[in-house]
This record gives sequence, structure tokens and C-alpha cells, in this order.
Amino acid sequence: MKHIDVKAVMNDKAFVGQEVTVCGWVRTSRNSKSVAFIEVNDGTSLKNIQVVVEKGDSADFKEPRVGMSVKVTGKVVEGRNNTVEINTTPDQLTVLGDAPTDYPLQKKGHTLEFLRTIPHLRGRTNTFNAVMRVRSVLAAAIHEYFQSNNYVYVNTPLITGSDCEGAGEMFQVTTIGYSNEYKSEEEYYADDFFGRRAGLSVSGQLEGEMAAMAMGKIYTFGPSFRAENSNTPKHLAEFWHVEPEVAFAELDDVIEIAESMVKFVIGKLLKTCPDEIAFFDAHFEKGLKARLEELISHEFGRVTYTEAIKLLQESGEQFVYPVEWGCDLQTEHERYISEKVFKKAVFVTDYPKEIKSFYMKQNPDGKTVAAVDLLVPGVGEIIGGSEREADYDKLIAAMNERNMNLDLYSDYLDLRKYGSVPHGGFGLGFERLIMYTTGLANIRDVILFPRTVGSIR
Ligand code: 4AD
Repeated sequence: MKHIDVKAVMNDKAFVGQEVTVCGWVRTSRNSKSVAFIEVNDGTSLKNIQVVVEKGDSADFKEPRVGMSVKVTGKVVEGRNNTVEINTTPDQLTVLGDAPTDYPLQKKGHTLEFLRTIPHLRGRTNTFNAVMRVRSVLAAAIHEYFQSNNYVYVNTPLITGSDCEGAGEMFQVTTIGYSNEYKSEEEYYADDFFGRRAGLSVSGQLEGEMAAMAMGKIYTFGPSFRAENSNTPKHLAEFWHVEPEVAFAELDDVIEIAESMVKFVIGKLLKTCPDEIAFFDAHFEKGLKARLEELISHEFGRVTYTEAIKLLQESGEQFVYPVEWGCDLQTEHERYISEKVFKKAVFVTDYPKEIKSFYMKQNPDGKTVAAVDLLVPGVGEIIGGSEREADYDKLIAAMNERNMNLDLYSDYLDLRKYGSVPHGGFGLGFERLIMYTTGLANIRDVILFPRTVGSIR
């Protein structure tokens, strides 16, 4: 269907005076005696294009209803406020698809909660148009950052036999249901598709490490799955995960990469999406643009977990979750540290080994590991990473402490047998980055079709 993007027509004054064909969905429609004004949006631009239909003596012109899809041919003319419009006549306007009056997006200003009930249609609102463009631009910027710094993009398996994070959050992958006919779990799994227990990967890190031990610098960018029963504004059962892994790197290197990547992609976003950022600034978070500009022009803060606990204990705040050395930092603690103490993005390092994963490098103090989380105001944790334990014996000891089945990790352990090197990496929760850069407070609103506990369609 030969036509031109609305964005192209709106952004290029060379079209003025020319005849063009555009397609789109009707956002608003006003009819008067001799003319009709129709705002059309094809999704390529936040702004609608106004189509002015000169009705002439065409008595049977039917005004297109909101939600209908149309194809319009007409002349581009200068409009008000430095915009362009399309002048046309009834015979040049074709209705491609009807939309009866029960079309749910009749008026503007629906709540995000209501829009969640129509995920298949909410993309036609300005909010979701802007979210999806930010998402797309950030994804491209992430690839650009890593590609231009010699990283290899690898695709790690989504179905896996080993649990990376070891927190019991794996969805099971099976083709047969468990029945009483099986005498044991082993017997049941042996009968199943892979001949052993399998699940959806919570992280591509373990395979990412294997790739980094060959290619030096790699990154993954794909979905991860978590069966955690967390019905919160920042947890999805299926989220998109960016995981770089770098050989010959220690914790400080991992932190440097995380900071430079976050700054690069947000800088790119500010340049590429000024309209979208202005939209979120106006409707969702006043001062968003200034906050993002400030983030990329200042060094991120840095504090150890032990210091962070002290800051929280001395804060005088009444937290819902009590603070003591050894506890997991909750969102309220993370936000206090980044919003009240540092007032910017902050790396928290060296967590107690008991609350972190088996693969993290053990610090000489015997109590902490070389872990790092990046906390940002408004959201809390957006990145979790670490230097990895590169010593075979220490890694085995950490796995034994957690009663892990070493047989399932023999490939991973081999990396520490054959040419082991210091290495590390991190995982960025892509949706959390989008929450931070749009000011949207609920993770369900930054992905097309959210999957959360108790909700799928
Ligand atoms: O801190 P996490 O669990 O770390 C890992 O998975 C490591 N294997 C990463 C690595 O070192 N390669 O997860 C990393 C990030 C979190 O900081 C968070 O932003 C995001 O992934 N994340 C989630 N995002 C949305 N919904 C969930 N349920 C998430 N769980 C983690």
C-alpha cells in the first residue's frame, strides 16, 4: 500500500505543496457544515496529522469515527504553530476498517490501570506510543554501546538444566504431568522430554561466562523468567535482561562498564527522543529531562553494603523492614540510599555472601563477596552484578555450602580448570531502565504484554 509515514510528512517541509497519501487511525474527528477536521495517527509519530476535508457539495459524506483506520490522499499545506496539515476531499478519503462506537479509546485521559485491561489496544495511546519508542531506542543504544566496544552479542539458551541464581524461582519445562505412577522425582524427570529436570532460564550468565572465556567480551539481550511470587510494581515473570560478561575484569572494571553503558544509552535517548522525554516530563514526572541530564553528567556514587547499613541505621527513618547487617536491602532501603543520601545513582558493593549467589568472588574478609548493585532514585535496583569466583576450590566450597548438585554445573566448573581468569559482569533489568527513563512507576506499563503472577492473556 503506497503511502508516506506521518512522521516524514510532519518533519520535512519539502512536502508542503505536494500531494501525499498517508494511512492511520482516527484519533479525533470534528464535523462542521462545509469542512471536517480529522486527526490521524499512524504510530510513527507522537503528533497526529490534521486532515481537513473540504466537503463541498458532497451531501453523503460520513464523518469517520474515532478508532477507524483510514487512507487519505491530499495536498500538504502549512498549518498553525509551525505544523503541516493535509487538505483533501471526500472522494480522496477511504475508510479501511470500521470502528463501532464501543471502541474503548473514545476519549483521552484513560488511567494506566484501565489501559492495562486492554493491552492489545493501549499501543494506540500517546503514552504507549512514547514508551514503545523509548524502549526501541534504548534497545538499539544498548547494542550500539556493546558493538562499538568490541563485545560479541551471544544468544544463550532459554531452556536450561541448571539454575543460575539458585533462589528456586525457575519455571519448570515439561511435556508430561507428574503422576503417582512415578516412584521418585528422578524417575519422573527421566521420563520427561530432556530426560532430566529442565526450566526456563532466570539468567544467561552461566552460559555467558562460557562465551566470555572464549571471546573475551560478550553480552546477551533476551528474556529471563522468574517464578517469584512478587506482585510488586517492579517485578515481571518474564523480563528482558541485558547481561555483559567480561574476561580479565575485576569488580572495579564491572562498575566502570555499568556506569559508562547507562550514561551512553541515556545520552542517546535524550538526543533521539526529545518529544517522548518532553511528553513524560509533562505528564508523568516533572523534571524528568533535567534528572536524566544530571545523571549522565555526574559520577555515580559508591558505597559498601556495610556502610549502607550504617547509613540506614543512623537515618532515624521508620522502615517497614528492620535493618541489620546481613539483611537483604528492600526497595525502601534502596530508595533511601539513592534518593535521600546520595540524591543520584549509587553502586552498593560487597554484600554478605549469604544473601548473594554462589558464583560471586569471595572477599578476603570471609564474610562478603565482590557483588555490586546499581540503585537509582525512584526505582531502586536496576543492575545486579559481580566479579565471579575464578578459583576452582573456592567455588566448589561455596556450592557445597549451598548443597548444590555439582554434576549439573560440570561445564561451568571446567571454566575454572582450564585457563581460569578474573572475570565479571552484570545484569540490567531492561524494563527497570525504561521505568527510570520515563518516570512510569509500574513495570506493567513499560512492556507490551506483561506477565505477572496470576496474570497472563
Ligand atoms: O540481580 P539479578 O537477579 O542478577 C542476575 O540475574 C545475574 N545473573 C546478572 C549477572 O550478573 N549477569 O538480576 C539482574 C537485574 C536486576 O537488577 C533487575 O534489574 C532485573 O535484572 N530483574 C528483574 N526485572 C524485572 N522483573 C524481575 N522479576 C526481575 N528480576 C531481576
